[in-house]
Amino acid sequence: MYYPDEIIEEVRTKNDIVDVVGSYVKIQKKGSSYFGLCPFHNEKSPSFSVSGHKQIYYCFGCGAGGNVISFVMNYENYTFPEAVKVLADRAGIKLPEMEYNQEAKEKQSKRAKLMEINKEAAKYFYYQLRSERGQIGYRYFAERGLSDETMKKFGLGFAMKTSNDLTKYLQNKGYSDELLVEAGVSAFDERYGLHDKFWNRVMFPIQDINHKVIGFGGRVMGEGTPKYLNSPETAVFDKSRNLYGLNFARTSRAGNFILCEGYMDVIAMHQAGFTQAIASLGTAFTSGQANLIRRYTDEVLLSYDSDGAGTKAALRALEILKEAGLTGRIINLEPYKDPDEFMKHLGKEAFAERIRQAENSFMFEIRMLKREYNLEDPEDKTKFHKEIARKLCSFEIEVERENYIQAVAAEYHIGFENLRKLVNQYAAQTGFAKPVDKPKSGIQKKQTAEDHKKRTQRMLLTWLTDEPEIYRQIARYIKPSDFTEELYGRVAELLFADLAAGRYDPAAILSRFTEEEEQREVASVFHTKLEGIETKQDKEKALRDIVYAVKKNSYEYYTAKLGTDVRALQQVIDGKRALEELAKVHILLS
Ligand code: CTP
Ligand code: MN
Repeated sequence: MYYPDEIIEEVRTKNDIVDVVGSYVKIQKKGSSYFGLCPFHNEKSPSFSVSGHKQIYYCFGCGAGGNVISFVMNYENYTFPEAVKVLADRAGIKLPEMEYNQEAKEKQSKRAKLMEINKEAAKYFYYQLRSERGQIGYRYFAERGLSDETMKKFGLGFAMKTSNDLTKYLQNKGYSDELLVEAGVSAFDERYGLHDKFWNRVMFPIQDINHKVIGFGGRVMGEGTPKYLNSPETAVFDKSRNLYGLNFARTSRAGNFILCEGYMDVIAMHQAGFTQAIASLGTAFTSGQANLIRRYTDEVLLSYDSDGAGTKAALRALEILKEAGLTGRIINLEPYKDPDEFMKHLGKEAFAERIRQAENSFMFEIRMLKREYNLEDPEDKTKFHKEIARKLCSFEIEVERENYIQAVAAEYHIGFENLRKLVNQYAAQTGFAKPVDKPKSGIQKKQTAEDHKKRTQRMLLTWLTDEPEIYRQIARYIKPSDFTEELYGRVAELLFADLAAGRYDPAAILSRFTEEEEQREVASVFHTKLEGIETKQDKEKALRDIVYAVKKNSYEYYTAKLGTDVRALQQVIDGKRALEELAKVHILLS
């Protein structure tokens, strides 16, 4: 599913990044760029830059960066096609139908049909809730404190007690029985034939991030079982990759998400103004969902039921969050069972206070651990302390570990030195555990020498985009293959081809990289700070030094590859010549 490249480029070039960003963020001209407070992280002094020349934005503080399309995607939390659509409208460009290949077309039409059926069903349930016979459902929601507006916002509905009405209705619209079953709105068995899957339930449509209905949860009226019935997984409903309420939460700007257990919890929270509330879909929280969350925030507040099952689920969810590199904290709902009840009794001010007091995940784990021991019994107590020590070994960074030792020692009245000794004893046996690897987490920390190599390569690329004129002087010494850092090599390839042809369009180069992480890094490649260079003489010297450093690194890199890489020899010969020349010449800037 894609738009032709030319159209995307047209949309991009007809939306000036300074205008577009300026309509969201207050920016001021400073030198050749505009600066403002970064909308992607909290800061007090502006490190967010927008370059009209390069048509790229970049934050020197948090590393967010990209072109005008990625800005809209990140700011609005839009998908790529959504952002393109908005910008096309803004510039008055009419988008063609998206192109599909044959296989994609068939898959797409099947998906489209399943989406259609879900939409029709949602409309049907929605209508029923507001009809005479649906009053029982409407009253149920009203008694649970939901306003008319809230019911509307979440598209709540009702499925009648005795009927196959929906199945019949959809059959009349021409959908085949197979498709209705496949969409999960109808079910088939020997005794009843084809019948409605949901009946006598209030209905919660589940929407994807684009507000499209992809499935349902239905709560039974009264005490029947199961209490909640959910749509099965279908081609459009992947329970491990969607979250209830995410379509609203993603634009909430609260700076965190509140993860709840149930649909009603999410709705009650949104009604109270906590529009960052989400929930998993009748199944346990998954790592796929954690990765989804990571696109929007890195802090998740858990608001699970305060009973045993809720606590267990919370501990598991914390583990998953940690693996995904997200920070988890726990909201204490005592004395209430869940956020829905809490809100009803204590209200939003009290809840906001509980958010502020949310407990650090490690401290929560230890507090839950404590319940498993009888601290009156010296032996059990010792076991508890040992287990704490073992857990403390998971902090590899010393300062952090010390801070936690201190916090735990104070909380559980353990001598600080004693606990620390215990921790060190454990560490002597097993070592301090490696911190959890953040999957796909962008730039890893490398040694400084490695950093330096990357930095000089980046500086040269930044320089070339700031002052494309220097290309003529350096092309003699530097080729794209000298950028040994893989991503930089790809950028250089494109940039050099442009410059050689007399073209200049860094934002177009950036467009070629579609992954968000890559875009950020490419944006950073074009924004490496070149500091303390004042005079022309300084500049010439600095440029020569950078070119020399890049070439020298390349020379060493290919020398190490001699014998294993056929291209290496030519690179080495070429490198040797260039280095000898560079040692003698000055690069003169006009
Ligand atoms: N759930 C489910 N199937 C069940 C019970 C629960 O799928 N048989 C899921 C639903 O997604 C539900 C969530 O687990 O929203 C939380 O369940 P529970 O705590 O029982 O829900 P409550 O919100 O407390 O339900 P209610 O307030 O409507 O009684
Ligand atoms: Mn409840």
